[in-house]
Amino acid sequence: MGRNAGALGLDFGTTNTTLASLGRPLPLGETGATLLPSALAFVPSGAMLVGDPARHRRAMDPMNTLVSTKRVLGAALGSEEAKRFAASTPYKLSERAGEVALETRCGAFRASDVARLVTTQALTLAGLSSLAVPILVVGVPATFTRSRRSTVIDAMRSLGFADVRVVDEPVLTAVAYVGRSSVRRGLVFDLGGGTFDVALIDGTTFPFRVLAQGGDAYLGGDDVDRALAQRVRERVLRESGWDLASDPVAFDKLVHAVERAKVRLTFDDAVLVEIAEVDPAAPTSVASVRLTRAMLSDALAPLVTRMMTIVDEVLARADTAPNDLDAIFLAGGSTRLPGLREALEARFGKRTRHDVDPSCTVAIGASFVAARPELAQLFAG
Ligand SMILES: Nc1ncnc2c1ncn2[C@@H]1O[C@H](COP(=O)(O)OP(=O)(O)OP(=O)(O)O)[C@@H](O)[C@H]1O
Ligand SMILES: [Mg+2]
Repeated sequence: MGRNAGALGLDFGTTNTTLASLGRPLPLGETGATLLPSALAFVPSGAMLVGDPARHRRAMDPMNTLVSTKRVLGAALGSEEAKRFAASTPYKLSERAGEVALETRCGAFRASDVARLVTTQALTLAGLSSLAVPILVVGVPATFTRSRRSTVIDAMRSLGFADVRVVDEPVLTAVAYVGRSSVRRGLVFDLGGGTFDVALIDGTTFPFRVLAQGGDAYLGGDDVDRALAQRVRERVLRESGWDLASDPVAFDKLVHAVERAKVRLTFDDAVLVEIAEVDPAAPTSVASVRLTRAMLSDALAPLVTRMMTIVDEVLARADTAPNDLDAIFLAGGSTRLPGLREALEARFGKRTRHDVDPSCTVAIGASFVAARPELAQLFAG
């Protein structure tokens, strides 16, 4: 039995999972990390890995490494979500209890199973027991149907949480930034690992209301990584004749290396990416490519154009001009990308709010709501 942390907020993200209590993200394990990759892997011996070690097996054994499953959380096999997921992932899909299931060497797992197992691991790492949590608030995309929300609630109840509430993620981000103080019109701009969400919030009532929303379920940091990796591949091909895309495992390794380099470009102007064994016939071969901020902004430009179009559409749908906005709240790890904040500020003539850790806004907002059960009662489950 773990220690009692009181009310808890949970963000089971497409990429990462976060827990928070009383406005603070909880350290998950000895490293103090607050993000646990939402990944599950089954190694040939049948053992299950969760989090970081699971994510690292993705390139080696994609069929038995479950990532980005939130895209089909609570979705039926015949749904649009499942069709799109099937087209972009290697998994063999089936259906269990009305929800998509992904076949692995250890059986079929639904996204709700992944959510349960990843959440269990996060609780263990935080030293908590679900039985000691009086109320759990979980963020869900504003687009989630009633039935997908019920799937989330049922999955968490099955872990032993007594009282489970779900709240729209952009509402939770707004709560993380402003608490109960009112904001007339707030724009939430959430760019994560795999998804881009925009929501216009009416903050004059509490709980806040989502007035209009939009986004792209397949636009995020992963796309930035692939666009950058493509540029590195072209350069290595030009300079040494090796094609890193000729082998999917090699290309996936490159995407991983580029993701780490991309994060460092938030702090450094240039980063050296070294790719070992670029030539399978020469195991000692190494290619090094200097990644610069200029290359990153070049790769980012078409993606930013798509994001701005989506923001414009959301504002238009609620008949709101950029001048009517009180605040722009940033959420999602990818809003740390150099130049992105500046691009938004130039476009909307307004400073962005990024004073809350963008990777944790959903969990932090959820923990604030959970700590005030009288507020949580206001949210439909
Ligand atoms: N400093 C940084 N610069 C650029 N990108 C970053 C930085 N830090 C983290 N990221 C990116 O943020 C992404 C993860 O963001 P986050 O944890 O918010 O995703 P998520 O909420 O799990 O996913 P989603 O919102 O798609 O459901 C990854 O693509 C990661 O590379
Ligand atoms: Mg997110």
